[in-house]
Amino acid sequence: MIKIAPSILSADFAALAADVARVEAGGADQLHVDVMDGRFVPNITIGPVVVGALRKRTRLPLDVHLMIVEPERYLTEFVQAGADMVTVHAEACPHLQRVLAQIRELGARAGVALNPATPPDVLTYVLDDLDLVLVMSVNPGFGGQRFIESAHEKLRTVRALVGDRPIEVSVDGGVQVDQVGGLVADGASTLVAGSAIFGAPDPAAVIARMREAAGA
Ligand code: DX5
Ligand code: ZN
Repeated sequence: MIKIAPSILSADFAALAADVARVEAGGADQLHVDVMDGRFVPNITIGPVVVGALRKRTRLPLDVHLMIVEPERYLTEFVQAGADMVTVHAEACPHLQRVLAQIRELGARAGVALNPATPPDVLTYVLDDLDLVLVMSVNPGFGGQRFIESAHEKLRTVRALVGDRPIEVSVDGGVQVDQVGGLVADGASTLVAGSAIFGAPDPAAVIARMREAAGA
């Protein structure tokens, strides 16, 4: 089963509850929440307060993507606010294994995101500490960027590395309906999409088309 995770980065932040309700009713599997600090990435978005507010308005699992330096300083706050999954960037974590263990100890699922230039080998010795790998198909920081093609090969490598472990392989950035078939064939199990879903007049229809294209 392919999961579809709308990224609220492209939602209307002044009408967030309404936009979330639309994708929830439209069959989204989880909500992707992009947290940016203006240091790891050149943009600033939202923090635990918004995660807590979302938690009260949706039953969808909250998939929190931390694009921040020193994520270990904020894990407790995000999990207490209601994050079900917390993903940190490998590039931001010199002690990646420790951070992943901390996320699990807090009771959330632990994810690692890889920038387009980061080789998948950084995962080799943390495979048993992981619940999710987020393959970035854009350089993080903004919605609406163009998909970087090398993500296809990286997805296949990550899928092989993961083997039969119960690890979600997610792809994030520039995902459009017409790429879905290829991404699923590469081994993606979760598709994150922001502008393709929230930028469309009917987000639910895009989710339905993505699911159809995924063959699931
Ligand atoms: C990029 C974010 C993505 C972004 C995806 O830094 O991590 O989750 O919202 O948006 P689209 O689908 O528009 O590329
Ligand atoms: Zn993201």
